[in-house]
Amino acid sequence: MAHIKLLIWACCLALSTSFAYGLGVNWGTQAAQTLPPSTIVQMLKDNKIDKVKLFDSDHWTVKYFAGTGIEVMLGIPNNQLAKFADDYDFAKEWVKNNVSTHLYNGGVDIKFVAVGNEPFLKSYNGSFLKSTFPALQNVQKALNSAGLGDKIKATIPQNADVYESGNSGPSQGDFRSDIRDLMQKNCSFFKDNNTPFLVNIYPFLSLHENKHFPIEFAFFDGQTKAVRDNGISYTNMFHANLDTLVVSLKKASCSGVKIIVGEIGWPTDGDLYGNVTLAKRFYSGFFKKMATKKGTPLYPGFIEYYLFSLTDESEKSILPGSFERHWGHF
Ligand SMILES: *[C@@H]1O[C@H](CO)[C@@H](O)[C@H](O)[C@H]1NC(C)=O
Ligand SMILES: *[C@@H]1O[C@H](CO)[C@@H](O)[C@H](O)[C@H]1NC(C)=O
Ligand SMILES: *[C@@H]1O[C@H](CO)[C@@H](O)[C@H](O)[C@H]1NC(C)=O
Ligand SMILES: *[C@@H]1O[C@H](CO)[C@@H](O)[C@H](O)[C@H]1NC(C)=O
Repeated sequence: MAHIKLLIWACCLALSTSFAYGLGVNWGTQAAQTLPPSTIVQMLKDNKIDKVKLFDSDHWTVKYFAGTGIEVMLGIPNNQLAKFADDYDFAKEWVKNNVSTHLYNGGVDIKFVAVGNEPFLKSYNGSFLKSTFPALQNVQKALNSAGLGDKIKATIPQNADVYESGNSGPSQGDFRSDIRDLMQKNCSFFKDNNTPFLVNIYPFLSLHENKHFPIEFAFFDGQTKAVRDNGISYTNMFHANLDTLVVSLKKASCSGVKIIVGEIGWPTDGDLYGNVTLAKRFYSGFFKKMATKKGTPLYPGFIEYYLFSLTDESEKSILPGSFERHWGHF
């Protein structure tokens, strides 16, 4: 952990002298002991992290970001999606009580509302397929009606397995077959509202889930033989994964939508591949990549990233593995 802390500090200190980098971090609070928000705010400032992604919109946390210059992404949990989908008046009330209330002069710089969290994960058995897009539409409509639509965008944090390319490369990418129709029919929302597509990408999980995954491909230090796809060389899984999304969006007639990486990280314990050495290797390559401000072969522009995560969370479900409690930088 100490290594990583130092790494972030060194990275951001070096960058902060010339420009604000725009590094974000997720702050989840499923922990027995959580740091007071005022301490969190100070930690973010000390480390030149200027965006925070939350998983709820708890007043107690949100209000501490007032006047800090830190951009905030509020969250709406999956179990509330149906309510937001069915009841526009509820969405309006929610915006009034949980968004507008923070927007006084010197208030909180709210930029996004994350509607649900990875609602199309296969393990949810389709429970949120019906409610997610209608909820998204109602939240954006309520933001628009409060006069906030240009400044605050509602979007959906998606897990990277909403798209796939089978055994082929990124050029064969498409949305997962069970949600392809849904994505194709609803993709125009992103274009029409100038909404970014938020995606969580974890090379660690590829390694964790597949014993045959070529480990070198999870990192950014090019110690792997490049894989060629449609004339493009890939030396890391992140590029290949994000480009699969680019192709999938194109197939859904949704090219040109901005992509933001809502979660990226590596755990420091709790798995064969979850340790400080590998986490350090991952972040070290990732930060160097980030500093180039270059995206991927098919998405060459600047990408915003939110690291996962700020602190370890001692009460997260360990159903996927005990690594779930060890994502914290601090
Ligand atoms: C958010 O809005 C809802 C609906 O208006 C309200 O019931 C709830 O108390 C608000 N949440 C917080 C944390 O204030
Ligand atoms: C999804 O289905 C599986 C198998 O039927 C079941 O074990 C699991 O509890 C279900 N999960 C949810 C979130 O409904
Ligand atoms: C979203 O997809 C669903 C299912 O295909 C469809 O019924 C609905 O009309 C779509 N919504 C929009 C806004 O296109
Ligand atoms: C970290 O994990 C890798 C892969 O399992 C292993 O080779 C290495 O020895 C581990 N390092 C430490 C310090 O545990």
